[in-house]
Amino acid sequence: MLYRLLRPLLFGMNPELVHRQTIRLGRTLSRSVLARNLVKQVYGPQWKALRVRVLGLEFDNPVGLAAGFDKQGELPGIIAALGFGHMEVGSISARPWPGNLSPTLLRLPGDQGLINYLGLNSEGSETVLKRLQKVDFRIPIGINLVKTADPEIAGEEAIEDYLDSVRKFYPLADYITLNLSCPNTVEGKCFEDPELLQPFLSRLQKTRNEMETGNRSKAFLAKLSPDLDDSRLGRLMELSQEYGIDGFVIGNTTSRREGLKTNQGRMNAFGPGGLSGRPLKKHVEQMIDRVFRLTEGRVPIVACGGVGCDPDQDPAGEVWGYLKRGASLVQMYTGLIYQGPSLVKRINRGLVNILQAEGISNLKEFLRSR
Ligand SMILES: Cc1cc2nc3c(=O)[nH]c(=O)nc-3n(C[C@H](O)[C@H](O)[C@H](O)COP(=O)(O)O)c2cc1C
Repeated sequence: MLYRLLRPLLFGMNPELVHRQTIRLGRTLSRSVLARNLVKQVYGPQWKALRVRVLGLEFDNPVGLAAGFDKQGELPGIIAALGFGHMEVGSISARPWPGNLSPTLLRLPGDQGLINYLGLNSEGSETVLKRLQKVDFRIPIGINLVKTADPEIAGEEAIEDYLDSVRKFYPLADYITLNLSCPNTVEGKCFEDPELLQPFLSRLQKTRNEMETGNRSKAFLAKLSPDLDDSRLGRLMELSQEYGIDGFVIGNTTSRREGLKTNQGRMNAFGPGGLSGRPLKKHVEQMIDRVFRLTEGRVPIVACGGVGCDPDQDPAGEVWGYLKRGASLVQMYTGLIYQGPSLVKRINRGLVNILQAEGISNLKEFLRSR
């Protein structure tokens, strides 16, 4: 209700400024035990029926915060209090990288979408790691890693750059997501190219084996672009299976623009970028179906795209739709911009009602029965 009143004001402001101020507020609230407890009272109730076990980890509920919202690891305290079952911090790159110049965000209110052209800005793994080492995680934290977006870092050096971050974060992460798609960089190649992916995954496997000594074994997920064609996706699935990737986050933002209501001239003036929110959802649904078929449903899928953006849709129904399609967890980002922080509670309460209506005693039972 409060957010509905605030939204016209926020949407009248520069989206980058709103995000910066949100992070600042979140950072302040994260530091205060009193504030965290208050926020938890209002926004973060949990229901036993929603607990799930995925990737060897226990989650209070299946709804997570997608990567990109807290790139620098400043908000884990408050994100847990808001009722999320997990979050991804990042994308984090080995070296600091400034990202692209402003403007980097374009809201598409008529489509309930957002285009971002941030360019993988990161304070770098050392700074983010130091910050996170001081935090007492209350929910599973996925560390989302990406190659430093410096186009000069290529070939063998690119693989080393990525593995450097893996080694740093392995002990701390609950799981690691590899952001393989790179719609925001000027570099021609990305890790979704099989010729780069194969040597990378092979080296990653060795690094994982080394890191497992003295550490609990950690799950590795690959985050995929929903724009992959069949041949690339097929090869990616084969390589993922060969080199022990444990699951997929589907997906990242899309470069496609068809069917949007937003004025083409406005989008052209903004330029390239990754589209998230409601228009992404159909692409993510198709991608989940393709991956589910290719993996015969054996590999956990984290669905990500468009949840909570469309005011005419029940967001719990949208999450339920993803779970029925084969996902084990669901993440969101853009929905928070359109509907505010109470979205998580609405989804979780709605999921409990759906389970009751379907005569399913809890979500664990549902995931087992699929
Ligand atoms: C502003 C913004 C920044 C993002 N940055 C990242 C990122 O650094 N790494 C990443 O893996 N995904 C990033 N994403 C993609 C989201 O994690 C998510 O995959 C995508 O937005 C689809 O979900 P949504 O429709 O719920 O927003 C970003 C998305 C947005 C909107």
